[in-house]
Parts: sequence; structure tokens; C-alpha cells
Amino acid sequence: MNLLIKNIKQLVTVRSNGKSCKSGNKMRDIGVMEQATVLIQNGVFAWIGPHTEFTQVFDDSIDIIDASDLVALPGFVDSHTHCIFAGYRENEFAMRAEGRTYQGINESGGGILNTVYETRNTSKKELKKLASLHLETMLREGTTTVEMKSGYGLSEDAEIKMLHTINDLMEESLMGIVPTFLGAHAVPPEFVENPDGYVQLICQRLLPYIAKHKMAKFCDAFCEQGYFSLKQCRTIFETAKSLGLGIKIHADQLSQCGASKLAAEVGAISADHLERIDDAGISALKQSGTIAAVLPGVSFFLNDKYPPARKLIDAGVPVAIASNFNPGSCMSHSMPLMMTIACTHMSLTPEEAICATTINGAAALGISDTLGSIEIGKQADIILYNIPNYRYLMYHFGKNHVAKVIKHGTYLDF
Ligand code: NIG
Repeated sequence: MNLLIKNIKQLVTVRSNGKSCKSGNKMRDIGVMEQATVLIQNGVFAWIGPHTEFTQVFDDSIDIIDASDLVALPGFVDSHTHCIFAGYRENEFAMRAEGRTYQGINESGGGILNTVYETRNTSKKELKKLASLHLETMLREGTTTVEMKSGYGLSEDAEIKMLHTINDLMEESLMGIVPTFLGAHAVPPEFVENPDGYVQLICQRLLPYIAKHKMAKFCDAFCEQGYFSLKQCRTIFETAKSLGLGIKIHADQLSQCGASKLAAEVGAISADHLERIDDAGISALKQSGTIAAVLPGVSFFLNDKYPPARKLIDAGVPVAIASNFNPGSCMSHSMPLMMTIACTHMSLTPEEAICATTINGAAALGISDTLGSIEIGKQADIILYNIPNYRYLMYHFGKNHVAKVIKHGTYLDF
């Protein structure tokens, strides 16, 4: 259970010294050390410092990694994914290449509902197999914790099936998983004439069941014209909060309807997307301390507006970056790619991008007390990369630079 990673060429700790997240200028302070050594005992970081100052002597019972050619970062915490689903949507990708829009495809009955039909018709066993493959690829690319949303079931049985599968994966997968209930992802076909009836089903049956069986940590909703109104989302969130769930929200993605302000009012831990957030939304998030979780891969993949991440950071809002891996709006779970897009299209610095994918990602899931940085006492999720320095990770994009993955102190020998 003990591991010594010695003489690391460059160690990026992202230390936050007890703060749950970083905002403003602090997002650039990522705690870089050269020629560092890290000792892991019983799955947590036990010693971190300059290699020359490490004097402990160990017998053969300790595993040693010589990292003199490697760069180390905390494992990524991907705080927004829909990575459990069945069915791919490459036909819609082709339709968009010919000029159709994401929203137009959704409105004509494709999009999210396509994945709902496929997911409803797929067994739990098969769903688990599909998701496991994605989780393994994510681990291989340096993501050690992911949030997983339901939301492609949209019926009592299918949403519970999705959450059961996610809960099983939490037991069985090497990946750290945080489960979110997203029953309000789209209005299911059965409720098109009565969307409030579906909101009632969520509040009166699904949420109480999910809370009773502790199947999700967060409740999320897609607050958007044609999906769920501010009023409907507020009803869902008030119920979820009364049952002990935390709140997340898909806010201001396709239009501006005041969803970020709602996020602040209900005390959401994160407001996600924000492509169309306005100044009032930015100051509301700043005041409430809600994390702005931006999803660079979506704007890139849908050729849409980018969220104003630079403005959010300059306003003092803590920003997280997540992949939003899903079959419709972002078919990629590569966090390094998300960081590259954030630097090239959203004017983040490489340091801010690293902070947004580690400690701030963990904060968006309420777990930054144990994850998201390399600090004594925290869970030892650390990735070693074959790169000359940390900036190279975003600069040389489209290539997996991971050399070694260590999850909870264990070296994963894939
Ligand atoms: O976060 N916007 C809503 N939900 C997802 C997309 C889901 C899909 O297209 O299947 C998102 O972008």
C-alpha cells in the first residue's frame, strides 16, 4: 500500500491550503515544484517536497517509481458527464455538417430523445458494459473522478435503471464516480401534452425514491425553452433540496432565461454550460459562490458560442472545466483536449485550465476536501505524463501523454 514517486521532473500540486476552490488570480497559482518527491501511504499523500529533502529510508516493501523524466499532475475531476447511454449519433453529426443545428435536430424529435429510445431499450448489464469502456478510456487519459448523470431514461423505470447502473459502477469500477439524477433532461414523449405532469412524477415519486435509497448526490435539470421552465426547475430543486440532494443546473446554454440567477437563488453547487450567461447572471454566481462549470467541447463540437470564462474568472467566479461527454453535444471525454480549447478559444491560461480541471472540478462536486490537488492527507490520485513540462500537455493536443495512472495510491497497470 506504500508508493514512493521520486525525483519528479515537475510536480503540479494545485495546492489550495484548505480552501475548497480557487478564484480570480489564485487560479494561476498551481503550486509547481521541480525535482519533487511524493510519498503515498495507505492511499493518501503522506509526504510532498523537494527530492533533496526526502531522507526516509525504506526496505523492499515499498514500490518506487523513478519519475525523473516525468511530469505529475493531480487526476482530473470531470464534474459534468452523461457517460452512461446507449446509441451513438454520428448521423446527427453529419446532419450538422450540412447545416442543421443541434437545437433544430432536438426539436424535430431526434437528439436527446434518440438516445432516450436506445437507452430505454438497453439492459442494465449492457449499459454497464458500455459505460465501463468509457470509464476505462477516461482513466487512461488521466481522469480519476467523474460525475455521471442519468437523464436518458425519462421514465420511472428507466431513470432508476440508469441510477442503479451508476451505483453498481461506483462499487465495481476503478474510477471515482459521483452520481447525479437528471430526470428533467427533456420532456418525455408520454408527457408532451402535460409537462407539469412529468415534473410531478419527478417530485412525488422519483426524487423521494432516489433520496430514500441514496442513489444520487445531486439533482440537475435542463433549464431551457422547450425543456424545463424556471418555475418547473425551481419546483424540482426545492423538492430535491428538502430531501437532502445538492443542486446542479444546465443553465443559459441555448438561450438566456435567467437560469444562472436561479442557480444562485437555490444555492446550486454549480451552474453548468453558461454559453449565454449575462452580466446579471455573472454577478449572481459571484455572490452565491456557485461554481461556473464551463464545457469547452460543446461549443467546439456544435460550432456554438463559447461561454465567457475569461469574464467569469475576472469577475471572481470560480470556474471549473468539464468534458460533458455525451453522444450529442460532445463526443469526447478528453480533459486535456478541453483544456486546449479553453486556452485557444476562451482565453484561459494553461495554469487556469489546470486549476479548472482539478481542484475546481472537485469543488463542483463537493469533494475538494479529499480530491483535486496533491496535498498531504488527500486521496492519492496522481498522473505521470511523458512531457517536458505541464504546459506541453495542452500545447501538443490530440495525443494521450499519460505514462502512469495512480488511483487512490494504487498504480493501475492496464
Ligand atoms: O449537456 N444540454 C443538454 N444535455 C446535454 C446534451 C445531451 C445530448 O445531446 O444527448 C448537454 O449538452
